[in-house]
Amino acid sequence: MDALEAIRTRRSIRKFTSAAVPKADLETIVDAGRLAATGHNEQPWDFIVITEPTTIMQFLPAAPWIIQAAAVIAVVLDPKSRWWVEDGAAAIQNMLIASTALGYGACWIQGDVIPREEHFKTLLNIPDEKRLMALIPIGVPAERPEREKKPLTQVIHWEKF
Ligand SMILES: Cc1cc2nc3c(=O)[nH]c(=O)nc-3n(C[C@H](O)[C@H](O)[C@H](O)COP(=O)(O)O)c2cc1C
Repeated sequence: MDALEAIRTRRSIRKFTSAAVPKADLETIVDAGRLAATGHNEQPWDFIVITEPTTIMQFLPAAPWIIQAAAVIAVVLDPKSRWWVEDGAAAIQNMLIASTALGYGACWIQGDVIPREEHFKTLLNIPDEKRLMALIPIGVPAERPEREKKPLTQVIHWEKF
């Protein structure tokens, strides 16, 4: 699948089959994250790949369906970097697209993580000075959701707003 097709077909997936995701594919997905654009090339990120079901189960308060995922990637940022939020978002989007390109489904879970950040940081041994930005569950999709997107004609402007 080429990059544009992956961008066009990516959707947040919240239902997965019980199929495993090979370690090599998880490495490819994280590799796409670490290659994202990053302010001043600071690369202020770390990625924790979690495949242990008992650990994944601990994320249930953030997303009850997460237990179906074959793996979860925790995205950790260093807030000392000026562009840590933008860098984290770029890395996450790269990983969502890479997951789609490899035939997997994934979801960016952040809103439901932030209220539980300290708890999850302790669970994953994340140093105090770092931020847990998001969890990304990954697996073989068991749904193909359609989501309404604003049409291009509504959001594109030529020359001036
Ligand atoms: C910053 C951000 C935070 C998000 N947080 C959550 C979340 O906590 N839980 C969740 O199920 N989805 C979360 N999502 C996924 C969005 O709900 C999803 O991207 C949106 O509904 C559009 O659907 P699509 O990804 O299929 O295009 C988040 C997405 C972004 C970009």
